[in-house]
Amino acid sequence: MARSCGPGLLLLLVVPPEVVADDMNPCCSYPCQHQGVCVRVGPRGYECDCTRTGYFGTNCTSPELWTRLHDLLKPGPAFFHFILTHFRWFWDIINRTFIRDTLMRLILIVRANLIPSPPTFNSDYGYISWEAYANVSYYTRVLPPVPDDCPTPMGTKGKQQLPDPQLLAERFLLRQKFQADPRGTNLMFAFFAQHFTHQFFKTSGKMGRGFTKALGHGVDLGHLYGDNLQRQHQLRLFRDGKLKFQVVDGEVYPPTVTDAPVHMVYPSAIPKEQQLAMGQEVFGLLPGLCMYTTLWLREHNRVCDILKREHPTWSDEQLFQTARLILIGETIKIVIEDYVQHLSGYFLSLKFDPELLFGTQFQYRNRIAVEFNQLYHWHGLMPDSFIIQEKEYSYEQFLYNTSMLMDYGVEALVESFSKQVAGRIGGGQTINANVLQVAVGLPRSRYPQQGQSLPGMIPLLKLSDVHLAGEEEKAAELEELYGDIDALEFYLGLLLEKPQPNGIFGESMVEIGAPFSLKGLLGNPICSPEYWKPSTFGGATGFEIVKTASLEKLVCLNVKKCPYVAFHVPDAAENGSPRRGGPSTEL
Ligand code: HEM
Ligand SMILES: *[C@@H]1O[C@H](CO)[C@@H](O)[C@H](O)[C@H]1NC(C)=O
Ligand SMILES: *[C@@H]1O[C@H](CO)[C@@H](O)[C@H](O)[C@H]1NC(C)=O
Ligand SMILES: *[C@@H]1O[C@H](CO)[C@@H](O)[C@H](O)[C@H]1NC(C)=O
Ligand SMILES: *[C@@H]1O[C@H](CO)[C@@H](O)[C@H](O)[C@H]1NC(C)=O
Repeated sequence: MARSCGPGLLLLLVVPPEVVADDMNPCCSYPCQHQGVCVRVGPRGYECDCTRTGYFGTNCTSPELWTRLHDLLKPGPAFFHFILTHFRWFWDIINRTFIRDTLMRLILIVRANLIPSPPTFNSDYGYISWEAYANVSYYTRVLPPVPDDCPTPMGTKGKQQLPDPQLLAERFLLRQKFQADPRGTNLMFAFFAQHFTHQFFKTSGKMGRGFTKALGHGVDLGHLYGDNLQRQHQLRLFRDGKLKFQVVDGEVYPPTVTDAPVHMVYPSAIPKEQQLAMGQEVFGLLPGLCMYTTLWLREHNRVCDILKREHPTWSDEQLFQTARLILIGETIKIVIEDYVQHLSGYFLSLKFDPELLFGTQFQYRNRIAVEFNQLYHWHGLMPDSFIIQEKEYSYEQFLYNTSMLMDYGVEALVESFSKQVAGRIGGGQTINANVLQVAVGLPRSRYPQQGQSLPGMIPLLKLSDVHLAGEEEKAAELEELYGDIDALEFYLGLLLEKPQPNGIFGESMVEIGAPFSLKGLLGNPICSPEYWKPSTFGGATGFEIVKTASLEKLVCLNVKKCPYVAFHVPDAAENGSPRRGGPSTEL
């Protein structure tokens, strides 16, 4: 973290600390509670702007009457989680009534409204500014960065220097023994997570950690179509709206970079004829990502055929654009009803229906936040080796393996990934050595949790309250390393929090992640009243494709023989009772 070595530092050497503290930027100690905004006034003073926080007073500490009532009546997230993951018979009934819609609407409103919209801060602007609003190359930040002139990197808490990231990663994050996710999450889920999120998490190497190359800030399928028009044009066939492809052994795959000359990241030893050209430049990394790209590419061209049949007069451009909107809709449907449904463990059947939000106050816009990017580093999902049709592959054999996709074909990979269990993400010491460096690199954008909460979210990041997975011993060690448990960094805190009972990670990951996720999904323009109608999707047929999409259909409509496909391993689903080790077993 860059801090100026001005007179302040010199002073520090010669005068006692209290004097320095008097001179300090008072906002460094985060005096404003309940998301009040701290503004420096005069040489030493500060003011808290408590507008619409529900509190008043110098430090926004006095609750207004309704806040008092609200806090009194509102149960915590653990309560709701418990209800939603227990009482199967009850949900069986709810599912079939209008109450399902009511609850889904409530979930969407309560969660998505926690996200500031329009966006507020970014890594260079800790106050509202036009530049932060208008320059979409930045990721936004829900919490402002720590001011540059604070005594410690975390404000006033902790030591002058944060602990060594390599040491932290090895001590707290490095996997000792593989722990299967108790909910039966599989690699099909893990690669979906990675594939899906890398359309909007594309941190810019050139501009720096606070910047993104994915200017769409959401579900735009830039990972299939490229993040700019030039790249999109290279990937398109310009016939019937379709994407370029190649046929190998009678099966459709993405083209090579010789056919679609786009920049891809591959080791230099791999010849151009073997490099697949995809929307996302890094997807050559894993056969799992190439597999999903293949499925979506086939789906795009399949949808183009259907549209062309209904609209023989349409131009290539209109077919392409309409197919893209249909695929965006399919993606959101699958993410909510298959992916989030699995992740949540809820017995309530989640529902993708934009109409639930019509007539409520909701902004159809989205900006990807640094906090969301950091919390989504789910490398704990990755196993110790990859099992494809009973054969075991090491990381060395699997990474950048350009032949595996076509050697096995999509069906075999889907089946194998669906049957292999993924690792638990939370609880500490969950990351395989081969991907540990990513977690070491993360603190390069070290993000303090500052003992305050994300706006509107529960103050769960007051890490002294968080039940760390290793309990006292680990907490003591962290406290010693950081000098103060409140100086613990955001990402480390999230990964070390004790997982929910039989959960894949802790409560904070859910409470912070869900709002970003739902805002990003429902904030898409296709969900707005202006767009959400049959004509947007080329008519009733296209609209129906969106409304009935599922992971299973994505796979089975695009392969010859339908394999086992799900986001959880088989024995977790088959017996009809809760998923293996699922939430209700604790009753
Ligand atoms: C073997 C599998 C994987 C490898 C080798 C891998 C490797 C990497 C690398 C090298 C980076 C860039 C780190 C940096 O720039 O500091 C990265 C970023 C990231 N990874 Fe992974 N990863 C894997 C699996 C996953 C999975 C399953 C997820 C699940 C969601 C995931 C989520 C992310 C995210 C969110 C980022 C940040 C992307 C960005 O901001 O550009 N990764 N990963
Ligand atoms: C507000 O917070 C500051 C700094 O934490 C503290 O010194 C002061 O006493 C507080 N004022 C009130 C009225 O609570
Ligand atoms: C309803 O709830 C049960 C949980 O008891 C769940 O397994 C089922 O799939 C849900 N969905 C529908 C549409 O019935
Ligand atoms: C956004 O901000 C960065 C950093 O100041 C700058 O380099 C870039 O040109 C800005 N982008 C636009 C579109 O103004
Ligand atoms: C890539 O995977 C194939 C199996 O599809 C395997 O035979 C080959 O050895 C792997 N390549 C490398 C470089 O490990």
